[in-house]
Amino acid sequence: MKKSGTLQLQLKFHFSFNIVSLTMFLVKTWRQTAFGVYGYMNFTKPAFLEHSKNFKPEETEVQIPGKNCIVTGANSGIGYAAAEGLAQRGATVYLVCRNKERGEAALSQIQTKTGNQNVYLEICDLSSVTDIKSLASRFSEKNVPVHVLVNNAGLLEQNRVTTSEGFELNFAVNVLGTYAMTELMVPLLEKASPNARVITVSSGGMYSTPLTNDLQYSESSYNGTLQYARNKRVQVSYIDQFSNDILDSRRVQYPTSTRMVTFKYSVF
Ligand SMILES: NC(=O)c1ccc[n+]([C@@H]2O[C@H](COP(=O)([O-])OP(=O)(O)OC[C@H]3O[C@@H](n4cnc5c(N)ncnc54)[C@H](OP(=O)(O)O)[C@@H]3O)[C@@H](O)[C@H]2O)c1
Repeated sequence: MKKSGTLQLQLKFHFSFNIVSLTMFLVKTWRQTAFGVYGYMNFTKPAFLEHSKNFKPEETEVQIPGKNCIVTGANSGIGYAAAEGLAQRGATVYLVCRNKERGEAALSQIQTKTGNQNVYLEICDLSSVTDIKSLASRFSEKNVPVHVLVNNAGLLEQNRVTTSEGFELNFAVNVLGTYAMTELMVPLLEKASPNARVITVSSGGMYSTPLTNDLQYSESSYNGTLQYARNKRVQVSYIDQFSNDILDSRRVQYPTSTRMVTFKYSVF
């Protein structure tokens, strides 16, 4: 009797354990399939070309002289293109780069290509809160309104590296860097009210993983790609919260729009 009771318990446990594993497997498969389809439809080049049919030239070809724009990670890729596009439209652009040589090369290329001399370089390692604080205080000494902050700098480091301030490196750049830059720029964004914008470049990769409390990936075996996806999800969640906080403080009107990999929030 006792033995069959134990057997029943074992079978029950085995059965419910298998149900849990099967459910987790199905949820994971569903998430990956849904992400694959959604990603193909929204984040690929053909998707961009399809969406771009709705772009209105008069909305993209505006001139914005007198607008001060900060672009992080502006020496390459999306950040460089954004900085060049803003300079082309007559804005004053501050390139925030961690490497002096790469930053100077981008600065000179943008000035030459656009003919806009109101483009400046600021050196800052966004994995360091100390460096970001020092950048913010340099900007506050300039005392200029910031109309646009583009949080573009991003990193996918496959190994678990810890910064000198004790943070996991991907988290430090993608999450903490975005957070510190945005929060510390609020006084200057407020100076540009009601026309300030914070644009944070996230990634469709965020759909591959749910939010987690383990922000620095210290509770399980490290996976750099997964940490990047987690960071990108946290970035969007933070910016959403940031917009809500600003809205709650009634300093703003709040249109939001989500386009491609760029999540654009109007904060003032
Ligand atoms: N390309 C894509 O398919 C794609 C897709 C989805 C999302 N994104 C996102 O788009 C953004 C730009 O990516 P990208 O593709 O243009 O890549 P990228 O060319 O590698 O640009 C990344 C930029 O971030 C800078 N950066 C990295 N760590 C930094 C730090 N500690 N301090 C300051 N700057 C730092 C890099 O500077 P260095 O040159 O000095 O390294 C570089 O300028 C990222 O946020 C990325 O997550 C890209």
